Amino acid sequence: MQHRRSFLKKSIALTTALPIFNVLKSFASSPIKASKPNGLIVSTWDAGIRANAAAWKIIGNNGTALDAVEAGVKITELENNCCVGLNGRPDRDGFVTLDACIMDDKNRCGSVAMLQKIKHPISVARAVMEKTPHVMLVGDGAFQFAIKNGFKNEWKGLSKDSKIEYKKWLKESKYKPIINIESGKRNHDTIGMIALDKDNNMSGSCTTSGMAYKLHGRVGDSPIIGAGLFVDNEVGAATSSGVGEEVIRIAGTHLVVELMRNGDSPYAACKKAVERVVEKSPNNTKEMQVGFIAINKKGQFGAYALQKGFQYAVKTDTYEKLMDSDYYYKNQREE
Ligand code: GLY
Repeated sequence: MQHRRSFLKKSIALTTALPIFNVLKSFASSPIKASKPNGLIVSTWDAGIRANAAAWKIIGNNGTALDAVEAGVKITELENNCCVGLNGRPDRDGFVTLDACIMDDKNRCGSVAMLQKIKHPISVARAVMEKTPHVMLVGDGAFQFAIKNGFKNEWKGLSKDSKIEYKKWLKESKYKPIINIESGKRNHDTIGMIALDKDNNMSGSCTTSGMAYKLHGRVGDSPIIGAGLFVDNEVGAATSSGVGEEVIRIAGTHLVVELMRNGDSPYAACKKAVERVVEKSPNNTKEMQVGFIAINKKGQFGAYALQKGFQYAVKTDTYEKLMDSDYYYKNQREE
């Protein structure tokens, strides 16, 4: 309960200084009373702080949420971390395979899965959305499409850290996702970003190299519209991080948006989606992490995760903060 109390204390301290208090109240499931922020960006993990800053350069200058969510996560795709971009950890056969998707306010969406050798899978996903009649391209087809559309093969082999860790992993070759391997200085997972621009339009993006040491060919939730990302411009947007199989099983972000459509706050919708994961999973959810973040048309945001440690970054014109998400296994772990 310490976590919750200290969060509320921090929220109260902000009330006099920041208009964003209305948004913070949404986390605590309180009704909103005042005006919404003039632009809002929420993204997963600590990498979200840097990604949000890049995205804000667009939204802050009256750009579109679509341009912002692409530009934002491109920053993360270049960072040296475990699970996004070409510096990400490989699958068990040593290949780095990338998944990404993007969705805008007009219900347009594009996606790539198991894409190799391309630095910015999110931009390829956007090209799929804008230049083809399709939603999703995978594997070699996605790569060929990327090359034909001006992207370069930029594969230079595993990053230094990936090489070291892959060699270590090969000694035992065990596959067990580690809770919150995504958190920490360079070990964050998927970045998902959802944004509301000054014209009150929403878009979202999601990009990852997926679970480290996955089976070759495995695709997670991140490139799947309705699982890793969903946007309905009349209602809200949601994105996810963690064990993708659990999110796919419940069509997680589509569920979050539908719950918001039926009146739930972003926080309540994310919480119900996590509860659905626990209810429906055939696996032991105590041993894994899944987290959702969501925004709605009123400029409220919320998040909820299975385990302690899920963080998300929030940015508006007056506010920038890395938040600790509320989580399901709180009582079980603190008792
Ligand atoms: N959430 C990322 C993945 O499961 O691949």
